[in-house]
Amino acid sequence: MSDAQNAGSPGSPGSPAGELQGLTAIVTGGASGIGLATSLLLASRGARVAVLDLNAEGLPEGLTGFAADVTSRESVDAAVAAVAEWAGGIDIVVNNAGVSAIGTVEANSDDDWRRVLDINVIGVARVSAAALPWLRRSEHAAIVNTCSVSANNGIPERALYSASKGAVLALTYGMAVDHVREGVRVNCVRPGTVDTPFVSNYLKKYDDPVAERAALDARQPTGRMVTPEEVAHAIAYLASPAASSTTGTALDVDGGLTTLRIRPQS
Ligand SMILES: NC(=O)c1ccc[n+]([C@@H]2O[C@H](COP(=O)([O-])OP(=O)(O)OC[C@H]3O[C@@H](n4cnc5c(N)ncnc54)[C@H](O)[C@@H]3O)[C@@H](O)[C@H]2O)c1
Repeated sequence: MSDAQNAGSPGSPGSPAGELQGLTAIVTGGASGIGLATSLLLASRGARVAVLDLNAEGLPEGLTGFAADVTSRESVDAAVAAVAEWAGGIDIVVNNAGVSAIGTVEANSDDDWRRVLDINVIGVARVSAAALPWLRRSEHAAIVNTCSVSANNGIPERALYSASKGAVLALTYGMAVDHVREGVRVNCVRPGTVDTPFVSNYLKKYDDPVAERAALDARQPTGRMVTPEEVAHAIAYLASPAASSTTGTALDVDGGLTTLRIRPQS
């Protein structure tokens, strides 16, 4: 059993099994990495979990897949309608689908910019817009967006990616204020570097992936990358009724990268 599945078992401290009983959650990009860990954790706490992903087949037991491409309004609308019909409503949306982009502003083409902003930013808007009519009917409506430390820290060679996550941060605040009086909370998490396929795939593009991986570990004040399960716990908190007075916030899950200044090791 993975940490994520184990985390919700009765008796484990700080992990209230059953707190999401009766609630339905959509997790975009839920077939891999942070999204998969989040889907498993929400399910272990009692939620019905719908994974929206490009390929939503072969998911672990307890998760239900709905194929969707967040760059297509038609695809998103159809998948969200299918989830609502399957579950009878939607209470939680985790806007997590995203892609990386490496390089300075000189490295990325206009097509790169359009593709990454389409997935990372407009995807959040499309899925949220499709789900809002259902969220308004929920007693415990919550949206959690997966942002990044790159939204508020200058990370080398992440110009396009940082711009996309800065937009996610601004969108989180904008959506939070628009929907607060409708009972829909909107928050985001800002992970540091998380050890997922997202990172292992882009490491392949470096001449020395082992050295680059070591540099990513060392950049975190904790000396190691964040785990997908650690991000999942932060998302699950923001999504849960336990956080019912928390809206318009960004929760850092970054090993201290944003605020700590450690002494360089000699
Ligand atoms: N891994 C990190 O270091 C890190 C750090 C901060 C933020 N994030 C963010 O966390 C989120 C998840 O990243 P991850 O590391 O788990 O990556 P991942 O590559 O393991 O998973 C991303 C998932 O999104 C899906 N996806 C991609 N494009 C899609 C589309 N058009 N429609 C539907 N689904 C699509 C993929 O199929 C995949 O299952 C992303 O938004 C990413 O920007 C990651």
